[in-house]
Amino acid sequence: MPQLTVLPANKVIDAAAGQTILQALLAGGEALQSKCDGQAKCGACHIFVKEGRKGISRISPTENAKLDSMVGVSSKSRLACQCVLGEEPVTVELLGALSGF
Ligand code: FES
Repeated sequence: MPQLTVLPANKVIDAAAGQTILQALLAGGEALQSKCDGQAKCGACHIFVKEGRKGISRISPTENAKLDSMVGVSSKSRLACQCVLGEEPVTVELLGALSGF
């Protein structure tokens, strides 16, 4: 069972392998929005993966194309709806507007 640590609150969520990070965040009570039903189209689930990048699914061309069209992305950017968790612990940072900061 992978642990998902959520910054900046430093909250730890017990996630499940095979779950997307978006699903784990929502199940853990985070108020992340999804306007496209997890189809990599809205960009509202943009997160930074701080640690454990190798423990999640690789970026797809569809996700990459969406990130390329967005502002404020970095090399740590991912769309939470597209990141499938494995067994490794992962640390993500929610963006300010989405985390209420
Ligand atoms: S929920 Fe829309 S891009 Fe992830």
